[in-house]
Amino acid sequence: MNFSYALSDVCKMIANSPREAPARIVEYLHDGFPHYDWVGIYWVEGPDLVLGPWKGPAATEHTRIPIGKGVCGAAAASGKTEVVADVSKDPRYLACFTSTKSEIVVPIRAGTRVIGEIDIDGRELGAFGPEDQQFLEAVAALLATLWPAVPATPSRA
Ligand code: SME
Repeated sequence: MNFSYALSDVCKMIANSPREAPARIVEYLHDGFPHYDWVGIYWVEGPDLVLGPWKGPAATEHTRIPIGKGVCGAAAASGKTEVVADVSKDPRYLACFTSTKSEIVVPIRAGTRVIGEIDIDGRELGAFGPEDQQFLEAVAALLATLWPAVPATPSRA
């Protein structure tokens, strides 16, 4: 899957069906990029990140993560993308799946405020490179345009 082609598809999903867009984008990313093994969106709710739509081989036990905890919580606290090439070497890592070797977490920011994040696990060490980061930051910026209407959608957690 080509990143610029995918970005234009994401744009269309947001324009055509804003309410369903987060779930559709999660599915699209998961199905379109084989190295995106588990894809989820967490939304900020008060002091926590709460799991919204996700797609992957299994459900995670981490459906609510305090901001500041784990790799997810670190990205939410700083507002900066976290790329972890080897999760076994990152003491912040909250384990979900034994198959996960690497992770990327991209904050969704409305202005300076973090409203959520895209979290992707990979089965390979160093699965995520600068192109993934650039692409996913662009996807996150598009998702941010849905705020404030869409993150208010009740999540499953
Ligand atoms: N590994 C994350 C927790 C979420 S799961 O990957 C779905 C973390 O360290 O914050």
